[in-house]
Amino acid sequence: MTATLPAGSIVRALRAAHLHDAPQDALLRLACEAIRGLGPPYTSAYAYMLHGDELVLEAFSGRDTEHRRIPVGTGVCGTAVATGEDQNVADVGAVGNYLACNLETRSELVVLIRRGATILGQLDIDSDVPAGFGVEHHRAVKAVADALAVLL
Ligand code: SME
Repeated sequence: MTATLPAGSIVRALRAAHLHDAPQDALLRLACEAIRGLGPPYTSAYAYMLHGDELVLEAFSGRDTEHRRIPVGTGVCGTAVATGEDQNVADVGAVGNYLACNLETRSELVVLIRRGATILGQLDIDSDVPAGFGVEHHRAVKAVADALAVLL
């Protein structure tokens, strides 16, 4: 329950920014900064948008990544799009198709940004905490992703 409360304030901030005509990249940056600002287990947050058969990094907060374009089907991020399923990876070292950005990340949560049946992109959250994300974290990030789906 507690993890959903900050999501509510993030959603309100996104709606307020949208009312002030914030462009898409600003909304994505705001979402990433606000999620990362919650602190552990949220270490870094990345917003990838789907362009054809590639995910393109459009905003992030936290550690930089070399993975600025990810083909659908590649890595944890590309797997989320290919399967249409959010990915909650408790141990990134145990996943064969994981694309590493750094040596500190231990777990990863990918939540799709969907508008109806259409996948617009995803929020990809890294954690330095092993098995960092539970059901409540997933629910909180999904609330932000669902808000973005309406506002973008
Ligand atoms: N780890 C992701 C790549 C993106 S970076 O973590 C920001 C993956 O396996 O797809």
